[in-house]
Amino acid sequence: MSGVAGGGDRELPGDGLTLLVAGGAGFIGSNFIRYIRGAQPGWRIVNVDALTYAGNLANLKDVAEDEAASGGARYRFVRADICDPVAIGAVFAEEKPDAVVNFAAETHVDRSIDDPGLFLKTNILGTQVMLDAARRAGVARYLQISTDEVYGSLGAEGRFSENSPLKPNSPYAASKTSADLLVRAYFKTYGLPTLTTRCSNNYGPYQFPEKLIPFFVTLLHEGQQVPVYGDGMNVRDWIHVDDHSRAVEAVLLRGKPGETYNVGGGNERTNIEITKLLISLMGRDESAMKYVQDRPGHDRRYAIDDTKIRTELGVVPQVPFDEGLRETVRWYLENEAWWRSVKSGEYLSFFDRWYTGKGR
Ligand code: NAD
Ligand code: TYD
Repeated sequence: MSGVAGGGDRELPGDGLTLLVAGGAGFIGSNFIRYIRGAQPGWRIVNVDALTYAGNLANLKDVAEDEAASGGARYRFVRADICDPVAIGAVFAEEKPDAVVNFAAETHVDRSIDDPGLFLKTNILGTQVMLDAARRAGVARYLQISTDEVYGSLGAEGRFSENSPLKPNSPYAASKTSADLLVRAYFKTYGLPTLTTRCSNNYGPYQFPEKLIPFFVTLLHEGQQVPVYGDGMNVRDWIHVDDHSRAVEAVLLRGKPGETYNVGGGNERTNIEITKLLISLMGRDESAMKYVQDRPGHDRRYAIDDTKIRTELGVVPQVPFDEGLRETVRWYLENEAWWRSVKSGEYLSFFDRWYTGKGR
């Protein structure tokens, strides 16, 4: 593979690229690492993650085992907090990454309503630490993983384009928006070759079971009722996590520095539709559904206009929603031990028990 033009002075090497992935032990980051190991066998991945409640090295057990069996030159995990400039500076100095993808964040809207300060710290200050480290290291690309939630809420009509106004409604969305503005500022002020993606709601394996789809699948499996917020008519645009990974790879390789790319699945569904699909796939009936008090500031509808990434980078989602959802439900049923260990909290000692071999 030949080199790819970067935004600054530096080119992205083709083979032999070292990619620093922050937040790689979470849902999307771990799926991305698994995907990119297959798609870019010449790349070396350094996964930097603080292992908060949402980080789980069991999400990458297969990758770590494959790596150990094949000599250990292509993947490394480093436990570090993106808010800690000394620790992050040391990782950059040691690993000398060519490119960075920042997935690390606090991500659950309901938690942001309970504890906004943590979201501001991780998502804004953590991003600033990552940007500073990337700037000092002179990386060829810095890709910030953002969200469609920065655009706020839509009515019945319209879709978010990259030029839509930024109107975040939750502390989570406000913190991600602030991070996006910092990324923009580092491009404009320092010429750091930044890129930003704003994706819609992801689904797939290894999603923390506080988010709608895995939360409901696991509750239905346990014979419990699922709590639908408000009238259940809120709309989300669902994308399979592998389609998100393909988009991230394309933006990293072919995106234009300074630009933002929307990523969507083209699958708008109301929460009621999702709930009914899950109830049917799980063999329950509609008595398994209960309406509960709405989330404060609950965004009504998200929908993505992904014309830019389609036309400029040729990225088109590949996973049909019904098929992807069916396979995802099957994955949770076949991997009950994974989500049971997450729900019980047992996974929190995984790092010590399995990764370091020390036990807790
Ligand atoms: P997640 O909550 O599953 O994982 C987040 C990861 O970040 C965890 O591994 C956690 O340990 C790590 N992390 C948190 N704070 C950290 C810190 N201070 N230092 C280092 N690591 C830290 O989240 P996800 O769903 O995989 O989302 C990943 C990214 O994608 C986030 O930036 C999120 O805003 C964005 N995003 C998510 C969705 C979605 O539907 N899940 C959609 C669009 C964008
Ligand atoms: P979620 O997975 O938290 O993602 P986001 O808020 O980032 O879109 O929620 C998806 C939708 O499902 C959202 O409209 C809120 C709704 N929801 C429920 O109705 N009940 C629940 O228990 C959860 C977790 C979410």
